[in-house]
Amino acid sequence: MERELQRIKEQEPQQQEFSIEERILRLSRERERRARLPHVFKYSEVPWQVSVQVWAGKHYIGADPQDRMKNAPICTIALSEQIVPPGGRNGRHRHVREAMFYVIEGHGHEVHDAQTYPWEAGDIFIVPSYCDHQHFNDDKVNPARFFFTISPVVDFMGVHWVEQIETSLREYRVPPGAEPIRDSSGKVTGWKRDGEVFQLGFDTSMQHLIEGRQSIATHIDQPKDTYEKYVKQLEDEVTWRQRCPHVVHNKDVPWEDTRMGRIKFMVTPETDCGLKTYDAFIQEIPPGSRSGRHRHLAEETFKVLEGRGYDVHDGVRWDWEAEDVVCIPPWAEHQHFNGDPHRTAKFVCFRSRWFAHMGHGGIQHLEDAP
Ligand SMILES: [Fe+2]
Ligand SMILES: [Fe+2]
Repeated sequence: MERELQRIKEQEPQQQEFSIEERILRLSRERERRARLPHVFKYSEVPWQVSVQVWAGKHYIGADPQDRMKNAPICTIALSEQIVPPGGRNGRHRHVREAMFYVIEGHGHEVHDAQTYPWEAGDIFIVPSYCDHQHFNDDKVNPARFFFTISPVVDFMGVHWVEQIETSLREYRVPPGAEPIRDSSGKVTGWKRDGEVFQLGFDTSMQHLIEGRQSIATHIDQPKDTYEKYVKQLEDEVTWRQRCPHVVHNKDVPWEDTRMGRIKFMVTPETDCGLKTYDAFIQEIPPGSRSGRHRHLAEETFKVLEGRGYDVHDGVRWDWEAEDVVCIPPWAEHQHFNGDPHRTAKFVCFRSRWFAHMGHGGIQHLEDAP
């Protein structure tokens, strides 16, 4: 090291590296840009789209890295809504991202790795990482509709992949310029274009990972050294994912009168379900009243289920009504107001737990609800 120091002293670096200054300026530019992004998304302004995965979906905040903070001032929560048609299902698939769904209307069931989990309006169901999953609407007359988030953070960690096992589309169309791939019955199951191939079905190259994350056979009761504690951690995670419930039933969760207002905490770190990265709760605000006021670093979003009103985020008012989606950026001081003197306002809120995992959790409470 001494020789290295001597050499640096002798040949003083000729060029100054400007990357730190550039980064500081870039972050400040990003902060300014983010401050101009909207906090409220109108249901009517987001179009319904179809895909192999979702029969009909509205995507408020995209989950891909290129979508991060493009249209909303948050980056750890992707927000979408989907409809499963009467008696229908979505396209069966599997991914590393974990996902959480609030059932806005309808009743039906999930099939996750061949196990069935029933749900109904007001429930939250969880899609844990790695599981092969599909949503089924059990109502032959009415659609089922969900508000949901998937975790975009695994993309940044470099461990994300998706396998599209079946399509949700009645008629599978290939993109412009692509050549269809057909199965033995003549059904289109994928396409080829410019040397790239998209094929529905399991990605066999990923099976070793799925097996390793879903079916560890050995069991350590008492780790005999520090290394074994890490080995046991994987076994514990596998066991937890195999055994945890995948649905939190609305009727099983009590309302709590808190300093922030009347809240039903559907998913918390203590809730036994296959989810690590989000919390979820339902909140009601009495006619003409307001919530408490607080702030937290964790990003928060909500879907308005009933009523109309407004939020104040760091002194700025954001109006909302039933069906709108609202985003609260990190550390924004916020409070919810019911603007209707006769009707209760109700919303379902998703809060990112990534922050708490990294030591940026908790709430700074500023004012009590009346
Ligand atoms: Fe999924
Ligand atoms: Fe909050």
